[in-house]
Amino acid sequence: MSAASTTATTSETGAKPSITAIVAATQSNGIGLNGGLPWRLPGEMKYFARVTTGEVPAEQLENENTNTNTVIMGRKTWESIPARFRPLKNRRNLVISSKGVDISQSPNTESYSSLESALDSLSPADHPDSASSSGKTRRNFLIGGSQLYKTCLTSTPPLVDRVLLTRVISDFQCDAFLEDFTKHTSTSTSDHSSKSDAGGLIWKKATHEELQDWLGFTVDEINEEKGVEYRYEMWVLNTSTDTHSP
Ligand SMILES: NC(=O)c1ccc[n+]([C@@H]2O[C@H](COP(=O)([O-])OP(=O)(O)OC[C@H]3O[C@@H](n4cnc5c(N)ncnc54)[C@H](OP(=O)(O)O)[C@@H]3O)[C@@H](O)[C@H]2O)c1
Repeated sequence: MSAASTTATTSETGAKPSITAIVAATQSNGIGLNGGLPWRLPGEMKYFARVTTGEVPAEQLENENTNTNTVIMGRKTWESIPARFRPLKNRRNLVISSKGVDISQSPNTESYSSLESALDSLSPADHPDSASSSGKTRRNFLIGGSQLYKTCLTSTPPLVDRVLLTRVISDFQCDAFLEDFTKHTSTSTSDHSSKSDAGGLIWKKATHEELQDWLGFTVDEINEEKGVEYRYEMWVLNTSTDTHSP
């Protein structure tokens, strides 16, 4: 585990960190097969890397964890990343395992025996509503897998307040699935809103422009690689009384 950051953690301040889940899922919410991804989509992987890294200027990365985004994952997702690619570079990697996981050879990596202890280590110094053009944004990303997504999306209130969803249009055989956080769709489909179980909270699908504003870069909405079509979406958790754009 790396040296402690000088920034106050959420357990010290009591503030709730903003966490974004990032996930690629088929239309039937399939996300994994045999412990890995069901597809190989290099362009989508680049999008994941760009978004989660946050384009932090190199000189800032020399400071311990400062201005570095965090990726939070379950032990099985950690193990699914080829050894040469882990830890995910230029990001603070948090791995959750009740049994413990060997991270002794992995810099910028911390393991936690519970989700709560991992979340307590997060800094609230996040910019939940906008991308920072200065590159100083620190964001927290939940990157899987199925078990952790489920825990975070079904908590009341949910532990994530934003979902970056890559909707894979083509069908794939899967044995790991994403909890369908949009399943309580409101009767009005025109506003792309879905009501969650967490009373008073609404999952609202952002426009593509809102997604790009949050990302801080432009990206095509519909993409195709190797005959596989997919679409970048952003869903934001709003209180039901909040009618403003995310
Ligand atoms: N399509 C995508 O975007 C995407 C993204 C990520 C992953 N995936 C896929 O998802 C699949 C893996 O998902 P998964 O559900 O099997 O595994 P997972 O969520 O990655 O990891 C599960 C493990 O994490 C630990 N864990 C989870 N919650 C915990 C808690 N509250 N407290 C303590 N430990 C906790 C446990 O480890 P211990 O058993 O060690 O206690 C548990 O066995 C793979 O196929 C992967 O490729 C897909």
